[in-house]
Amino acid sequence: KENMLWGGRFTGGLDPLMVSYNESIHFDRALYAQDIAGSIAFARANIKTGILTEEEFAKIEKGLLAVKAEWEADKFVIVPGQDEDIHTANERRLGEIIGKDVAGKLHTGRSRNDQVATDMRLWLRDRLTDMNGYLATLLKTIASRAEAEIEHVMPGYTHLQRAQPVRWSHLLMSHATAFSQDYERLSQVHARVNRSPLGFGALAGNPFGIDREAMATELGFESVLPNSMAGIADRDFIIETLQWGSLLMLHMSRLAEDLIIYSTAEFAFVRLADAYSTGSSLMPQKKNPDSLELLRGKAGRTFGHMAGLMMSVKGTPSTYNKDLQESWEAMLDTVRTVGDSIQIATGVLSTLTIFPAKMQAALSPDMLATDLAEYLVRKGVPFRDTHHISGQVVALAEKQGRPMDQLSVKELQEVDARFGDDIKSIFDYQRSVEQRTATGGCSKSAVMKQIEVLKKLLE
Ligand code: ARG
Repeated sequence: KENMLWGGRFTGGLDPLMVSYNESIHFDRALYAQDIAGSIAFARANIKTGILTEEEFAKIEKGLLAVKAEWEADKFVIVPGQDEDIHTANERRLGEIIGKDVAGKLHTGRSRNDQVATDMRLWLRDRLTDMNGYLATLLKTIASRAEAEIEHVMPGYTHLQRAQPVRWSHLLMSHATAFSQDYERLSQVHARVNRSPLGFGALAGNPFGIDREAMATELGFESVLPNSMAGIADRDFIIETLQWGSLLMLHMSRLAEDLIIYSTAEFAFVRLADAYSTGSSLMPQKKNPDSLELLRGKAGRTFGHMAGLMMSVKGTPSTYNKDLQESWEAMLDTVRTVGDSIQIATGVLSTLTIFPAKMQAALSPDMLATDLAEYLVRKGVPFRDTHHISGQVVALAEKQGRPMDQLSVKELQEVDARFGDDIKSIFDYQRSVEQRTATGGCSKSAVMKQIEVLKKLLE
């Protein structure tokens, strides 16, 4: 059967597998509303070019709104083999409703190339606005937990080995710091997404003097893209979103990994709410952190979409090539994955139970070896020497099989005579964290300052 859209020069039909291989309607139908909004703006601008009369425009607008109503009521009937994509489908239906004489004028000077880019940008900029809201909620959730739980001290790790005591809130805020940068980056990505390609035609521009700025304003774009060849083939706005989402998911994955470790019986610092855990079909005692494992796993899926689309686009010669259709599923899936992930993480963090006593119990006096060295630094001993001296104390405690804080003042003074009678005061975890008052440190005041900065960003 002859294809209505571009059938003029064709005599043969498509191979049946080619039909399904080629079509995009099963996913791009999700953007029916954007496609119709773009068509209305385009038709309206074509009154001034003289392509459409006021009456013709009114007919087209009314018809397009009727098509939209069919989608909304789930009554739109896709014609297999004919409705290749959302643009084709909407125009076919418009012709049936208002007649082909008027409907046939809508596509004057337009191409599916500027149409698809317009639809995707309209849709994506709104999804990025949603994402901004989800991310703000996540950040607020972390900030209020950090504020409420500021008293609790836990082991801080490097190489996953006990390193120095830190506030639990400081750890929370370390994750918030990464997400707050994702939040900042998001508004920059949004600004680049929200630019209009409408009116570019297939690649060369519009010959009827269409007012691209007026269409952009009607559609809520911030500006118009500057070059038609670049604009119709540009999928950077999607790639950039996938890169943004990938980095965010990398942060998600690291947060998830921390909480997975801390929720094991061996650590038991935290417990996940039932709402974000699942059980085992075989082992009755199991409570598995599936939400966190999915956050970690879905990061990989997101990176895959990013790398996949970059590879699809990198070899395309200038302007439109069908390879670009591969951007759809990567975009739709990533937006859903990232949006869901942010909301799941928010749920996990707002329902998480913490066990401060377990955190406290996991602290050990050797984690204060740095504080011991710093004690001597305050007496004027060069840090390189104090590091060595403190190391000798660690070795002595290890040799004696006693924790460092159980060594007597006299024993410590035998290692170095400059240890004073007040040396035992350093064996206090709260005191240790309270030493770190410089900006960005883990003292109470320094953590509170971080929380304030974050709250300001969210205002
Ligand atoms: N479904 C197509 C896409 O997503 C629409 C553009 C088709 N343009 C074309 N010249 N075949 O890329």
